[in-house]
Amino acid sequence: MQHNNVLILDFGSQYTQLIARRVRELNIYCEIHPYNKIPNHLENYHAVILSGSPFSVRAENAPHPDLSNIRGKKPMLAVCYGAQYLAHFSGGEVAPSNTREYGRANLSFVKEDDLFNGISKGSQVWMSHSDTIKALPTNGELLASTHDVENAAYKINGETTYALQFHPEVYHSTDGKQLLENFLVNIAGVKQDWTPQSFVEETVDELKSKLGNDKVVLGLSGGVDSSVAAMLLHKAIGENLYCIFVNNGLLRKNEFTDVLKQYEGMGLNVKGVDASARFLDALEGVSDPEKKRKIIGRVFIEVFDDEAHAIKDVKWLAQGTIYPDVIESVSATGGPSATIKSHHNVGGLPDFMKLKIVEPLKLLFKDEVRRVGASMGMDKNLLGRHPFPGPGLAIRILGDLTREKVRILQEVDAIFINNLKSWELYDQVWQAGAMLLPVNSVGVMGDERTYEKCVALRAVESTDGMTADWVNLPYEFLQKTSNEIINKVKGVNRVVYDISSKPPATIEWE
Ligand code: XMP
Repeated sequence: MQHNNVLILDFGSQYTQLIARRVRELNIYCEIHPYNKIPNHLENYHAVILSGSPFSVRAENAPHPDLSNIRGKKPMLAVCYGAQYLAHFSGGEVAPSNTREYGRANLSFVKEDDLFNGISKGSQVWMSHSDTIKALPTNGELLASTHDVENAAYKINGETTYALQFHPEVYHSTDGKQLLENFLVNIAGVKQDWTPQSFVEETVDELKSKLGNDKVVLGLSGGVDSSVAAMLLHKAIGENLYCIFVNNGLLRKNEFTDVLKQYEGMGLNVKGVDASARFLDALEGVSDPEKKRKIIGRVFIEVFDDEAHAIKDVKWLAQGTIYPDVIESVSATGGPSATIKSHHNVGGLPDFMKLKIVEPLKLLFKDEVRRVGASMGMDKNLLGRHPFPGPGLAIRILGDLTREKVRILQEVDAIFINNLKSWELYDQVWQAGAMLLPVNSVGVMGDERTYEKCVALRAVESTDGMTADWVNLPYEFLQKTSNEIINKVKGVNRVVYDISSKPPATIEWE
């Protein structure tokens, strides 16, 4: 089935992906394309949204695409830079603003319009720009203003073209989603036909015809993406999907056996490969973080390659790649640049990487992956799991790595995570874990002096891991967790809580 499709032209705004997520939340399919690569088949798109941009329209190197095939021919919503772009090149005027135009503002309506159905006067919107629209373009009609921005929303008479100086996609624009719905559904007539159920049905059908009777191999990590990808493939090709779940010895306590059981319970054709000894032997005594990562990557490829070879006639490698990994991004500084991650199926790579690639999730954002998983009845705990780094606990043990340190950290981490769950804090935290520090400090236990390890607990809020803030966990929780760790984990006599945000700190300590 061909879905109604919305084209989002990216001018390099930090918020472009947010526009796409808001549109998808309305059950409308959309794609992001760079402004300088407008797709050829515009007949496939039912409406167009122009994003914001870090550029000034007045700058010579600013994006100035030719929109003549779109403007007036498709319903169009121009956001921020888009709104200024329309004004600047179509008979209006854009100039540096001399009042503050960043942050919250309140809308007042100048003219009634379907764009504002269900939105009340005074609705909060989010401004983020330094130029301002001094005069509307030819045939422009003012729809709304704010205290500091006269031309906050306008439309072009005689076209289905709307423009907003503020950002409806940002959560701080409280009625932003309603406004997008008004434009897309009521004004542009786009159908809301993109649902998790429709995605599952169509993807399973596509996978069936693409893969036929071919065998597919997939590496499960215990994380959300690979698990949902496996479930979709399993629905499509059943036993022809060969899943491999590798224990690198650096997973959380009991994770390998628990998650393996869960996978088996889901009916997956999964092989658990316990390669802990191979990883830990290779890592013994290594302290440099990048060396640890390289060793783990190399050993993983060796193990996976061996296992993939053992499957006769396997043709495909499935990956849990998601949409943010494949969107071509527009550089905010050096003009348009395509920084797309790609898979290079060329010589010199391990055999399994020469397989054809299938990526069933590459159209989805992370939150959509979870919704798709839920619609297939997958376990809530599996779908709600925190992200966990590929190199696992190795990059949470600062300094040289030994089996004993892995054991200590697994115990500490298990207490921390179980307590987050029992205090119902786990789902409020984006990622949490414990770090084993390379310092011993003095303590007393009973009458005895101790000289033992220190651990740091870290819990952060984030949306994508690029920026993060530490979570204000209740003191009582920290107190109980610290006591439990020191009482139960032999070798640890001190617990600290990490209160650094990213940037400048990173989430992992190595
Ligand atoms: P940082 O420490 O860079 O982490 O703030 C951001 C996110 O990335 C994860 N992370 C990794 N994931 N291999 C991975 O698969 C790695 O080497 C790696 N290093 C960091 C980290 O857990 C966080 O979610």
